Amino acid sequence: MTDHSGVGFLGMGNADADYSSRPSSARIYDALLGGNHNFAADREAAKRLLAMIPAAGEMARANRAFLNRAVQFMLDAGVRQFLDIGSGIPTVGNVHEIAQRRVEDARVVYIDIDPVAVAHAGEILRDNRFATAVQADMRFPEAILAHAGVRRLLDQQEPIGLLLVAMLHFVPDDDAYPAVERLLASLPPGSYVAISHGVSETAADAAGDGVADLYRRTDVSTATGRTRSQIKRFFGDTELVPPGLVWVHEWPAGPQGDGDPGDMAVVAAIGRKS
Ligand SMILES: C[S@@+](CC[C@H](N)C(=O)[O-])C[C@H]1O[C@@H](n2cnc3c(N)ncnc32)[C@H](O)[C@@H]1O
Repeated sequence: MTDHSGVGFLGMGNADADYSSRPSSARIYDALLGGNHNFAADREAAKRLLAMIPAAGEMARANRAFLNRAVQFMLDAGVRQFLDIGSGIPTVGNVHEIAQRRVEDARVVYIDIDPVAVAHAGEILRDNRFATAVQADMRFPEAILAHAGVRRLLDQQEPIGLLLVAMLHFVPDDDAYPAVERLLASLPPGSYVAISHGVSETAADAAGDGVADLYRRTDVSTATGRTRSQIKRFFGDTELVPPGLVWVHEWPAGPQGDGDPGDMAVVAAIGRKS
């Protein structure tokens, strides 16, 4: 995909011009990762973001690597089905690729608010009986849990791997905490939740207002880091598996050396529901 006005190629039929003129958080992230499913407005926003947080691309790659390790960890623990919310534009190392390489019939449901991300995932998954992509907003967990695709693929009697990776910082408190609580309540015992999240009290805070302003012009209303204790609250009653909440690139090895995070501003953990 070079110039991306041709949204139709994504299987979306008549493209809504707004998709290409208004940046989205999914496509800015795709641009940061060097992907090619983004529009000029997304690339411009990514450039502005990099000017404010030069390590943003490195953080996106470290986050993506965490996602891979989190899925591998859950597979090792016997998880065979995944609910990936805020899944983003499909790119290298998608959850179904990681999971189905090891377990042919591992089931994966991708949820994203971005229609371009979901349409593209739908194209990739067209012949995949065990995975689907659904456009939905995580602020409405009942709609996600009741969705036919979710009910068809995810067995509520078996552990589920819930992935909320690099997405909760786009959701305001009043929506995010109750939605995650509801999602966790829906998980069978033995399930896991992986969360990575922008953390405040780092060098990136200096750019906080500019970053929030940039994302206010996208499809999300906020982009705000939370403190470690605010992020831990999302895990509710689940038990954090070692090493707990650490810099995203340090999970699961734990803090290395002097613990200097460089320019990192994303932390991650995995919780197990008993
Ligand atoms: C930074 S990307 C992360 C993608 C992927 N999880 C990863 O870590 O590689 C954040 C994703 O969250 C999605 N998102 C933001 N707010 C959302 C919401 N309320 N409901 C569902 N998805 C949302 C965005 O569209 C975007 O695709």
